[in-house]
Amino acid sequence: MNAARPVIGDKCRACLVCDGRACGNSIPGPGAKGTGVVARRNYDAWQHVMLVMDTLVGGDDIDTSCEMFGRTLSFPVFIGPVGDVNRHYGPSIDTLGYNRLSLRAAKAQGVAAFTGDGVPDELFEASCAAIGEVGGTGVPTVKPWSLDTCARKISVARSCSPIAIAMDVDAAGLPFLKGLEPPAGPKSPEELASIVSSCEGVPFIVKGVMSVRGAIKAAQAGASAVIVSNHGGRVLDGCSATAWVLPQVARAVHERFPGVKVLVDGGIRSGVDVFRALALGADATLVCRPFVTAAYGAGQDGIEFLLTKLRDELADAMMMCGARRVADIRADMVEASTSGGGR
Ligand SMILES: Cc1cc2nc3c(=O)[nH]c(=O)nc-3n(C[C@H](O)[C@H](O)[C@H](O)COP(=O)(O)O)c2cc1C
Repeated sequence: MNAARPVIGDKCRACLVCDGRACGNSIPGPGAKGTGVVARRNYDAWQHVMLVMDTLVGGDDIDTSCEMFGRTLSFPVFIGPVGDVNRHYGPSIDTLGYNRLSLRAAKAQGVAAFTGDGVPDELFEASCAAIGEVGGTGVPTVKPWSLDTCARKISVARSCSPIAIAMDVDAAGLPFLKGLEPPAGPKSPEELASIVSSCEGVPFIVKGVMSVRGAIKAAQAGASAVIVSNHGGRVLDGCSATAWVLPQVARAVHERFPGVKVLVDGGIRSGVDVFRALALGADATLVCRPFVTAAYGAGQDGIEFLLTKLRDELADAMMMCGARRVADIRADMVEASTSGGGR
């Protein structure tokens, strides 16, 4: 954090814990939309999920690995996508540079990184090439452009053989996307289904659902996974924390669409938070802003350090709560705080 502060720009304070408080509603910048309350709410909600300790469990060593989109990840955390890095943070790292750092760090630590989208097209193409360079352990994230533009970008994305392709459908609410050329905005279920089929078998992830209704529509359209996400509060002021929505979305998707994965992001800052998310029904998580701070402070080493810390904290939480494998993590290993569940 100390090393990041002089270079990360004036919108991010590189706080010890990235909880959405100091950056408020700074966009451009890493903050949230409107009052900025949603980023804080995301972070706070996890803190009201209490872990239930049980050390009277035998068994083998802790195994944090999981299967995701046909690959084995060393633990269920992805590095989340960040677009326009140098506009939101300082000029010392640009978007492509950040994508390269995060893809290499993720690969070295046995996980994968999402990359963001934006203009110009060449940036998206270069990010996809960077995914190709790490053997496809990345997820290019396409914005909800017009169908023609989506088709073009998805064809570029497919060419790097990524583990999956994502679309942040909630980006329809991003302030700077309004009125952009090419146009972007909400998609009908039929449009989403045609976008999914243009992936020609590459798993498609719908990022940015905040309701059972939205998740079901995404799964019916053919998505292989949904991400419970409100874009870190950057697209709609006043919405729920992701931790509040996750249990019912996970239950509905897993019951009705076995095989469809449920991921979650928003304010996940430790391996304990990752454990909380898995216990509430997630198959995996994304962590976003803290990796940017780590990159500004210490480049690829900083990102790898944070990945290692998250994995160690998850392993410790698993050991203390009686889970030996990720699949052992159950709903009864957490309980809601008696002080109101963060709402
Ligand atoms: C500066 C900034 C840029 C972002 N750019 C993208 C993007 O291009 N695509 C996307 O899907 N999400 C983007 N996000 C959202 C993140 O991927 C993530 O959903 C959100 O920040 C919540 O996770 P966090 O609380 O761990 O940061 C961005 C977030 C920030 C702060």
